Amino acid sequence: MATLEASPTVSPIGRDTVRVDGPRKVTGAAQYTSDFHFPGMLYAVPVGATIANGKITKLETTAAEKMPGVRAILHRENIGKIFRSIPGPGFAGICEERRPPFEDDVVRYYGQYIALAVAETFETAKGAADAVRATYAAEKPNVDLHLVADDEPEEVITTFGPRKRLDSQRGDPDAAFAGAPVRLDHTYITPFETHNPLEPHSTTAMWEGSTLTLYESSQGVVNLRSVLAQMFGLPQENVRVITKFVGSGFGSKLWPWTVCPLAAAAARQVGRPVRLVLGRKMMFHAVGHRPRTQQRVRLGATREGKLVSLHHDYIYTRSILDAHHEDCGEATPFQYSVPNLRVSFGRAKRNIGGGADMRGPGRVPGLYATESAMNELAHQLGIDPVQLRILNEPKIDESVGLPFSSRHLLECFQLGAERFGWSKRNPAVGSMKRDGLTLGWGMAGCSWIAARFDAAANVQLRDDGTCRVASATQDIGTGTYTVLAQLASARTGVPLDKVEVELGDTSLPAGPLSGGSIATASVVNAVLFAADQALGSLKMVAVSTPGSPFASHSPDDLAVDNGRIFIKAEGPSKGTPFADILRRANLRLVSGNGQSPATFGNPKPKFSTQSFGCHFAEVTWQPEIARLRVSRVVTVIDAGKIINTLAGRNQIQGAVVMGVGMALLEHTEYDPQNGAPINSSMADYIVAVNADAPAIDVHFLDYPDKELNEVGARGIGEIGLAGIAAAITDAVHHATGVRVRELPVKIENLLA
Ligand code: MOS
Repeated sequence: MATLEASPTVSPIGRDTVRVDGPRKVTGAAQYTSDFHFPGMLYAVPVGATIANGKITKLETTAAEKMPGVRAILHRENIGKIFRSIPGPGFAGICEERRPPFEDDVVRYYGQYIALAVAETFETAKGAADAVRATYAAEKPNVDLHLVADDEPEEVITTFGPRKRLDSQRGDPDAAFAGAPVRLDHTYITPFETHNPLEPHSTTAMWEGSTLTLYESSQGVVNLRSVLAQMFGLPQENVRVITKFVGSGFGSKLWPWTVCPLAAAAARQVGRPVRLVLGRKMMFHAVGHRPRTQQRVRLGATREGKLVSLHHDYIYTRSILDAHHEDCGEATPFQYSVPNLRVSFGRAKRNIGGGADMRGPGRVPGLYATESAMNELAHQLGIDPVQLRILNEPKIDESVGLPFSSRHLLECFQLGAERFGWSKRNPAVGSMKRDGLTLGWGMAGCSWIAARFDAAANVQLRDDGTCRVASATQDIGTGTYTVLAQLASARTGVPLDKVEVELGDTSLPAGPLSGGSIATASVVNAVLFAADQALGSLKMVAVSTPGSPFASHSPDDLAVDNGRIFIKAEGPSKGTPFADILRRANLRLVSGNGQSPATFGNPKPKFSTQSFGCHFAEVTWQPEIARLRVSRVVTVIDAGKIINTLAGRNQIQGAVVMGVGMALLEHTEYDPQNGAPINSSMADYIVAVNADAPAIDVHFLDYPDKELNEVGARGIGEIGLAGIAAAITDAVHHATGVRVRELPVKIENLLA
């Protein structure tokens, strides 16, 4: 049997591997959700409420219904039954807006869908949607930016179930803080942000009898199936969800939104396939956003820089009905060693659509706050910020009393500092210059969860010498097609260009969500086990098929590599193509199934599993013209074995660019009068683009973490966005002397 390490063929694991789906993408052959066309397909356009709080008193649809080409105007009276869904075990049945569309006449946020126009063309549907007239009894919406925790019990219900508002506690943090020789008490704010993937949300729904098929731009087809099955009262096997290519999601497509049941209800009503693609403006209304957070961090320390207490008390916004949990305190209890600690949260309801996971949910805004506080403490103490972190490096995860499966954060700091040239930093504000520019240097640490979701995969070896690997996970642009190909190739020895990968279809073995940077770690063992089973089957065929050159051998004597099956003792040069064996046996293929269980819910974990890393950032500042730029970033990530170093670096680079946006640009503003997002276009909601991107040097440590899977791969992606805003804002302080504690840093902040 080919193994990962000892294969005579060079294993593709751990190498720069060009994406196997690249040619399909650049030639336009890759089919995104709205590239699929169906005979008789209609187009749907939602009508969004133009108030954010109140009631619909009248809905006039007659004019719209009479327009030529209009097939239906759906609203509360005629949409038909849509049930609610509830979460089930194993990350199923999850959505961030529980209320089925049009369930009542109450409007709770601007853009909430109140009707749906269905027509022969997109233009007609848009015209009809615009012709629907609503009359409201409007009240002033609450979109206040100052957050005060709502009066709530100590345990609250969130999207993921009940949750104690006291996240974590140890020692006596209040007393320790009161008695600390050095104290810091600051509040950090992160704004509402909106996901802006290139491809907007897109659904095409069609019915055949009581079977529903959805083409959907989704980060989780399996969960989506379970939600839609519940909403339409169907057995799961009657719902199929297909997602072949996704123009990214950043978390907005992790869980289904009400656009999916709307399209399905419309298709049910008109008896034809219905397509619903959101326009960019509607991407700001009802398909999620990163909640606003207000985080008070208190640190107590000795004069030498040893932490004695840490309080992290945060408040975030939620929608009126739903309860997305923005887990800002996720990393706080274990990032540093501190004997006295409290992490707690509160929530503040606002008349805004459902909050959602957005790249690095919770921990990214959380680490912005706590890492900023560490940088401020370092400044206050006159200690180098790297040194302060080294002083407070924990030996174990102090929140659960478990060792880390693999933590090499100090090595990240050391390597990052070296690659950046950190030792040349003069800490005096405004003291460093280059080419007439003032330089600011800042750094921060980061971490991200390492875990597995349930995963199943199927591997086939076929009589044309190819291998097929399949799983109902999806590639959201991160490289999942390539990772599955690499794993299957590494284990079966079939060269990469002869491996076909099938993803994004609930008719395949159930695979993981593309979320939490967890998909890769989840699929590793499932694919390897499936390959082992297929290889075992192939060897049985080889020894049991009359006329086979291996007829007198035991399966254990055999190995497979580079498309050939051979006797281990003789080596691969004497082998036979496995395709020949299959043909001789009159078999099209042999196949294997593999499964790998989730790590969530393990009552007795032996380790705390996390990835770690750090960023070093340089900004340039020109006070004469108030120009601030991020010029250089060095990022070092300790995420176990990196399966595809090319796609891996690309993930971190993309996250760093997004971090430049988080630090300096991104924020969604809501109109206090009508609750509408004001900057709801790509012209007004500014994201970092190529011109904003610094030189980014990404380096991975290489410590395989076998706790997670056989290869030792943890997740990457989101970790690249964690901590970067704190590194940049500290660099801004270093350059300008201005300490900004509310993101994004605006030029106005620096002119004061
Ligand atoms: Mo990511 S926010 O877990 O899709």
